Amino acid sequence: MTDFVDDDQRSIRARVSLTQQIDRGSVLLGPRLAGAFLNVPRHPFVPVFYRRDGERFIPWRFTDGDPDAWLDAVYMDDSLITEVDGLHAEHAEAEGLTGVPTSSSTAPSLMADMLDALDVHEGAEVYEVGAGSGYNAALLCHLAGDQHITTVDRSEDLTTKARARLNAVGFRPLVIHGDGAREFPPAAKYDRIIATASVRRIPPEWLKRCRPGGIVVVPLKGTLAGGMLARLTKLPDGTATGHILHTPAAFMPLQNGTGASPQTTTPLPDGPHREAEISGRELDDWTFSFFAQLHMPPGVVRTYSRRDGLHVTTLHDPADGSATLIQDMPEGAPLVTSTGPRDLWKPIEAAYRHWQQLNRPRREWFTIEAGTAEQTVTYAAPDGGVHRWSL
Ligand SMILES: C[S@@+](CC[C@H](N)C(=O)[O-])C[C@H]1O[C@@H](n2cnc3c(N)ncnc32)[C@H](O)[C@@H]1O
Repeated sequence: MTDFVDDDQRSIRARVSLTQQIDRGSVLLGPRLAGAFLNVPRHPFVPVFYRRDGERFIPWRFTDGDPDAWLDAVYMDDSLITEVDGLHAEHAEAEGLTGVPTSSSTAPSLMADMLDALDVHEGAEVYEVGAGSGYNAALLCHLAGDQHITTVDRSEDLTTKARARLNAVGFRPLVIHGDGAREFPPAAKYDRIIATASVRRIPPEWLKRCRPGGIVVVPLKGTLAGGMLARLTKLPDGTATGHILHTPAAFMPLQNGTGASPQTTTPLPDGPHREAEISGRELDDWTFSFFAQLHMPPGVVRTYSRRDGLHVTTLHDPADGSATLIQDMPEGAPLVTSTGPRDLWKPIEAAYRHWQQLNRPRREWFTIEAGTAEQTVTYAAPDGGVHRWSL
């Protein structure tokens, strides 16, 4: 394994501090994982990233202002946004831009949780979807050996940069440009597959490419935004089984693959009003929004905002044109307004009642079974009742 002896003391101290931050959080780092975070520097992978200034994303490089503040930011347990609407921070004008982040270096404690679940041993063949900055691939190289790592990203700019940075710190994994849901080196099979972009369902190719006994760790997110992580083990019959992890995870969707549907413009509902049983704020509880997602068709789009400080949620199903607005009122029950054939808040209210009846089960109590055709989530309640939903 490579040791980064050429690093200066400041960067070594920063890595020790990051490793301690992760270890003090919800992840108890084992010696191998702690060794990876201690040995692999983060700063070579994010020489420029965006900092937030209100609505704007401003590029921030080592040479902008106080270098110690820059290094502290790189080694905080935070995600670092590197690309907004396809523009890498390295190519952005100094005044920055507004837009939607399209690539980032994930928060290290979340990476640690996922790598812990992936259980990477030396010599394991690993496929990572979402190379991004290359930092997670570098940690994988440290854990398995760089000749065993393949990482893919849909952006050629990102893969070119990630490859150069991995090489610069001494790692030579296979870095490929393409859609990680479908493009693989011919006949390649893997012991471990990890995605760092979220999907609504597990792409069948990931199950096919994983060897029996192998592990897949993947962020699942639907349009209600209840992001979670699933860890599955591939079975000899070609299916995979596992469970949802405790950690919530808000990954950007896999693009052009089987990620969540792109946002569409929601029509403003102007139909009849009724009083809501629950506020749209309930969906901010990610355990519930994960549960509610299981009760909704896959294409429903959720948007939310605040108007005069009050929570406003809209749901829109492009499949049949239904749109529902749920507004908190200054006093009394929230108000529901719908247009189109269906009131989209009704199945969520029913899901909420069911969730309460089940005593608000935690996400890590759900299991997941995935075949190439059918994928299901199951909750086996303590009273013996078994509840199952299609993913
Ligand atoms: C959260 S970032 C990945 C972070 C990365 N692992 C790191 O350590 O910096 C998600 C990445 O997924 C990539 N992505 C999105 N859709 C993809 C697809 N279909 N195939 C491969 N990569 C994709 C994005 O370009 C983005 O770089």
